[in-house]
Amino acid sequence: MQKPMYILGIESSCDDTSASVTCNSKILSNVIANQEIHSKYGGVVPELASRAHQQNIVPVVQQAIAQANITKEELSAIAFTKGPGLMGSLLVGTSFAKSLALGLQIPLIAVNHMQAHILAHFIQEEDNKIPPFPFLCLTISGGHTQIVKVANYFEMEILGETIDDAVGEAFDKSAKILGLPYPGGPLIDKYAKLGNPKAFTFTKPKVGDLDFSFSGLKTAILYFVQKQQRINPNFIKEKLNDICASIQFTIVEILMDKLKNAVKKTGIKHIAIAGGVSANSEIRNRLQLAEKHFNWTTYIPKFEYTTDNAAMIAITGYLKYLDGNYSDVSVTAKARLKVTE
Ligand code: KG4
Ligand code: ZN
Repeated sequence: MQKPMYILGIESSCDDTSASVTCNSKILSNVIANQEIHSKYGGVVPELASRAHQQNIVPVVQQAIAQANITKEELSAIAFTKGPGLMGSLLVGTSFAKSLALGLQIPLIAVNHMQAHILAHFIQEEDNKIPPFPFLCLTISGGHTQIVKVANYFEMEILGETIDDAVGEAFDKSAKILGLPYPGGPLIDKYAKLGNPKAFTFTKPKVGDLDFSFSGLKTAILYFVQKQQRINPNFIKEKLNDICASIQFTIVEILMDKLKNAVKKTGIKHIAIAGGVSANSEIRNRLQLAEKHFNWTTYIPKFEYTTDNAAMIAITGYLKYLDGNYSDVSVTAKARLKVTE
């Protein structure tokens, strides 16, 4: 039997303060404090986010350790998000993790948030499939849109990525045009369920085979809505479900087209999705259908491991711990960090 290793993971890259304890590859706790304060500003306000992290971090970590039913002295290491993200937010988690690791005299492990979204697939659950190497991962979040070839845990290659907005931004900015609060992605998903995805058509952008572009789509949606409102001022209210379904359909079509190109190019048919937008019900459905239609094997993360969470930081920390890949206290947060760094 493998000796139990308890890793504490801390995530504070954007607007969620989260802490998780893993026992080897299993999750014992995953506590997330969402910051409601940003919704009225239509986006994350960095200064408010770091203040809220400062208030949340101690209770969130205490709760994660208590829910795991261990004491902090039993921890084997502390993993934290080093980047990418908002600098003020990252600094709270980084400084806290350093101090706690020093106090407990245990290893400190710096984790790349983008790698962690992907490595969440290695969390061991009762009934989950674990992807074999190599696999392709479509990482779709509020800040990133990438197709990554994953040759091994820490051997990743970006095959394509967005040249402008991330797909989460496309969802959130479209939602803002429709007068929906931030983050609008989950709301578009909700209203789309009641609408006709073919009601309105938006043209798909023309970019490189495996690259993405979403800024044109956002502008097209804005002009379309403004034009319709001049004809009928109640257009948004009357057609909200159809507009959301049509936007979501277009975005998911773009994502699926690029995945098909990536499979064609690499011959790899093990396909995973990761990041906040992988919570979207339409992309989840379409991937499931692709198992039947294209003979892909798909890996769809559990809902709670899609948007930002510390369980993905803790599992990545565990994988690094096994390699003895520790950081010393001179490690610094990095607002910009590629998935390959
Ligand atoms: O990974 P994440 O939690 O944070 C970043 O690292 O960016 O992703 C957040 C993004 C937001 O843009 C949010 O609107 C989007 O994920 N999102 C969704 C859904 N749930 C979250 N977008 C579409 N449909 C959803 N169900
Ligand atoms: Zn994220």
